Amino acid sequence: MNRILILGGSGFIGNALYKELAPFFDVHATYKTDNPIFEKNKHFHQFDYEMERLHILLDNLKPKFIVTALRGNVTSLVRLHFEIADYVEKNDCKVIFLSSANVFDRFTNYPSYEYDKTLSESIYGRFKIKIENELLRKPISKYVICRIPMIYGAGSPRINEIKAQLQMNEAIEVFSNVVINATHINKLVQQLHYIINRRRRGIFHLGSNNLIHHIDLIKDICEELGHPDALIKQVFDSNEDRHLAVLPKDNMLPKHLQLTIEDVVKSSVVL
Ligand SMILES: NC(=O)c1ccc[n+]([C@@H]2O[C@H](COP(=O)([O-])OP(=O)(O)OC[C@H]3O[C@@H](n4cnc5c(N)ncnc54)[C@H](OP(=O)(O)O)[C@@H]3O)[C@@H](O)[C@H]2O)c1
Repeated sequence: MNRILILGGSGFIGNALYKELAPFFDVHATYKTDNPIFEKNKHFHQFDYEMERLHILLDNLKPKFIVTALRGNVTSLVRLHFEIADYVEKNDCKVIFLSSANVFDRFTNYPSYEYDKTLSESIYGRFKIKIENELLRKPISKYVICRIPMIYGAGSPRINEIKAQLQMNEAIEVFSNVVINATHINKLVQQLHYIINRRRRGIFHLGSNNLIHHIDLIKDICEELGHPDALIKQVFDSNEDRHLAVLPKDNMLPKHLQLTIEDVVKSSVVL
């Protein structure tokens, strides 16, 4: 059975992906912070990229797929991903890198597609570009780059924060001029499952097929959560509309794995 290693298996995306894949593959995952539940699970390995070298874990597990779902120190993460890129090139293995819509945050007038040139003005976006560029130097069979927009879904950090603000009757900050696409966690992990299972490769834009202003998405989600009169605080960073959207065009997934903004809104409540 193909072995998959999820780096960051204790995190929001990493853990949801672990649960999605575990019934079908031999899945191993890492966590950093002490956690009695992960300690008892033989498939979870404590690993801190600031303190340890990854190659020990890789030599022991010999995964066929490495999914990187990590956050933290940018310099250390770049070093780690360069080490992974080198490992996958020399071994029968590929890496699935969770990148972000922010690799395009310098382009403002239109949404971005898979093979558009990246350009970012944020530290976060530039850090993702640095790792993407290193992977793009490797043969295409060795990497999958998944560019992901904002993730919602019942139980997600974004929806939990909105719920907490609604409960406290606090104003929710929205970027009124920003046009986005979005996704929800259940669909995202199904898409990643498909990409692994079907040995897809290259660059994927894993967001909804349509766009919405950030303010309208948040209002629709609040309404779905039963708060049509939520307090909204509008933040304007320019007079013009600004796009932060990664639309799929060249590397499409099958119909049942595509999604719309309406699906994202519906996913904010547990059905
Ligand atoms: N969430 C989004 O909306 C979104 C959108 C686009 C792209 N992404 C990308 O997806 C990836 C995962 O995001 P996420 O939201 O799932 O993050 P998250 O919930 O914050 O999880 C981060 C993971 O990194 C681990 N970690 C942190 N410092 C570490 C260290 N020094 N050594 C080893 N592991 C360490 C954490 O381990 P512990 O929890 O055990 O400490 C956790 O498993 C990130 O690269 C992010 O840029 C996320």
